[in-house]
Amino acid sequence: MKPRPSGGAFECVMKIVVTGAKGTIGQAVARYAAAQGVQVLAVDNVGRGDGEGGYLAADLTDLGQCCEVLHGADAVINLAAVSAALLYPGAQTLMTNVAITYNVCMAAVLVGVPRVVWASSVQVFHSYPTVRRAQYRYFPVDEEHPNDPQNEYALSKVLGEQIAEYFARQHRLTAVSLRLPEVVPPEMWADLPRPIEPWEHSPLPHYVHLEDCARACFLAATVSLPPATHHVVLITAEDTSADIPTRELIQRYYPEAEVRAALPDFASLLSGKRAEVLLGFRAAHRCHA
Ligand SMILES: NC(=O)c1ccc[n+]([C@@H]2O[C@H](COP(=O)([O-])OP(=O)(O)OC[C@H]3O[C@@H](n4cnc5c(N)ncnc54)[C@H](O)[C@@H]3O)[C@@H](O)[C@H]2O)c1
Repeated sequence: MKPRPSGGAFECVMKIVVTGAKGTIGQAVARYAAAQGVQVLAVDNVGRGDGEGGYLAADLTDLGQCCEVLHGADAVINLAAVSAALLYPGAQTLMTNVAITYNVCMAAVLVGVPRVVWASSVQVFHSYPTVRRAQYRYFPVDEEHPNDPQNEYALSKVLGEQIAEYFARQHRLTAVSLRLPEVVPPEMWADLPRPIEPWEHSPLPHYVHLEDCARACFLAATVSLPPATHHVVLITAEDTSADIPTRELIQRYYPEAEVRAALPDFASLLSGKRAEVLLGFRAAHRCHA
């Protein structure tokens, strides 16, 4: 924490590095964190820095650059990544994402940043696009549900979670892997709820509003957590983005799955319990009245 003069005294200001800060989620997280009074260093590999220390251009596949941008921070929220399948060849997506996740964790250890938060994805158990139909054992899906990565993007998230676990055990890092669903920005909010695609390979209609997502990332970086622990946490709105009730949706697409909770009306198919208990996070936005 950096001391900052405040009315004659000094108060400590937390410093958070937000990577992928030119991206959809990174911009919202950097804005939200700054509004909470935190000192933010925004980092991305787009363009060049602002020359004032607020934005730095860096390629996070390079460990040396990672170390330099993380120096002096209290936490890093790592949102830099190839953010979907089919944007680049699979190998490029996998190598880039694994390199960034590893480098951010290693740099945090090397320069003494105690907390790493990063964006995993619900695609660990339901990739998009998929090859096979996703198999759900039970609903609501929680963090213990088996994974089934079906492309290199999803595989990079599974491996990223293992990297975070490794650093918590081997290097006493405190890490949070946030499994994000579709993150819906305000300009797309009016499209929800929407018809569920009549295609067995389409993703589950899970989502979270961008503002809720930014708050979840900030909470994951700032709430008190035991040192040297790694937490996988699902983030979700409390409802689905589908225009059919949840029970009907399960019956139509996943009749073989065990239903472990009431799931009335349009209740989410994902469990937000761990996010609530661990981070104190509940989504404020829902698309159904
Ligand atoms: N948007 C979603 O719906 C969603 C859902 C689940 C998970 N996620 C994950 O959240 C994270 C952020 O997603 P987003 O939607 O904001 O993606 P985005 O593509 O808008 O932003 C990603 C940013 O990372 C930067 N980046 C890529 N490679 C880099 C490198 N080598 N060094 C530095 N910066 C680099 C890009 O320039 C980009 O600005 C990603 O990890 C993504 O996989 C997103």
